[in-house]
Amino acid sequence: MNLLILGLQWGDEGKGKAIDSLADGYEVVARYQGGHNAGHTIYHKGKKVVLHLLPSGMLSPDIKNVIAKGVVVNPIQLIKEIENIHSLGLNSDNLFLSANAPVIFPFHQELDTYFEQSRYTKIGTTKRGIGLAYEDLIGRRALFIRDLIDKDTFYKKIKPLNDHYNTLSKAFGGKAIKVDDYFEEYLEAGQYLKKYIVNTTYLLNEYMKNGKKILFEGAQGVLLDINHGTYPFVTSSNPTIGGLFSGTGLSHKVMGEVTGICKAYTTRVGEGSFPSELFGEEAELLREKGNEYGATTGRPRRVGWLDLVALKYAVMINGIDSIYLTKLDIFNDFEEIKLVTDYEIDGKITREFDPYPDVINSVKPVLKSFEGWKQNVSIIKKHEDFPKKAKEYLSFIEEYIGIPITYISVGKNRDETVKK
Ligand code: IMP
Repeated sequence: MNLLILGLQWGDEGKGKAIDSLADGYEVVARYQGGHNAGHTIYHKGKKVVLHLLPSGMLSPDIKNVIAKGVVVNPIQLIKEIENIHSLGLNSDNLFLSANAPVIFPFHQELDTYFEQSRYTKIGTTKRGIGLAYEDLIGRRALFIRDLIDKDTFYKKIKPLNDHYNTLSKAFGGKAIKVDDYFEEYLEAGQYLKKYIVNTTYLLNEYMKNGKKILFEGAQGVLLDINHGTYPFVTSSNPTIGGLFSGTGLSHKVMGEVTGICKAYTTRVGEGSFPSELFGEEAELLREKGNEYGATTGRPRRVGWLDLVALKYAVMINGIDSIYLTKLDIFNDFEEIKLVTDYEIDGKITREFDPYPDVINSVKPVLKSFEGWKQNVSIIKKHEDFPKKAKEYLSFIEEYIGIPITYISVGKNRDETVKK
């Protein structure tokens, strides 16, 4: 059965570890949306490896890793990550890159940064040019990976797009970029990446036809979805389940199990509403214990309790079958742990998550308190060995959202995962 791993919150749920610990038995790992705004952390032989664009199966030579058409690719970043894999003594022959993935250029990043500084609503993006590259795709002006291969074709296509950006940049008071500033570097990148380039739509459909077990690696999280997330404080792709189909060119028949990843609490980077957010000392404690600093940008993450209203919404709109809960161990020595069970909006209690900004911003969270278990759960190998108070916390979540928590991560290493 194929497996889809989706982040159920605002990203950073620990998908890298979940995928790495579940990847055994899967022959293919595929990324299908987002770009190097993602940061999936994996511990390889005790060494921390952060992958932004490469799929999380790259460290297992037997697994084929596919970057499908829906991913926006910065080729310079991709090469950096491939070189990093080589420096670990691994080869990258297990990588397959879509010929038709849209390319991120320096002007995308430039304008992303500029917009962040100047526009009326600051999103708090990763400044990687992700949104701008997707805008070009939607605007029907994008260049694709295959356009980097032939010098004349590349020049002919990049010139008008670069002009388009310079016009925009001028209007907004940003700086102009010349094609010559990056042309050779991107052309060389095209030559470097040539050996990995394939038609991933056919490749993945072939894998499916031949019964290969595929693990789909979602990036970001459901609440950052352009359609169903807390707009406008979202990313510009679909981290919800539909992104898998549009990003790969596979049909609904590919679907197997859908596992949702969520933390035992909630984090968010960037701006936007966050009903269960903590502040002051409480926030500081959780941030420090959980080491909540961005894998991509190093920014301190905003932190809060696990929000069951938001989680149930994420489960509902994606048809999640089971949960992989991460970082339960962060609560090891907490006196008290809380969950959000209801929202109070204009004096009315509701369990509906409406992402419209004026609604979600006015939420007052209703909290339920649990006594901490004050025990080190990182050493636990079997579910029955969890302290009673931890089991109560976990059972409450399961009953509320109506699906099982099948895996519980109690530490950063692969084997610190308890299966129910
Ligand atoms: P962008 O994806 O760089 O355009 O950023 C849009 C929003 O999504 C910002 O709030 C980012 O912090 C957030 N974001 C993008 N990628 C990730 C991720 O991988 N983890 C967590 N947040 C992310």
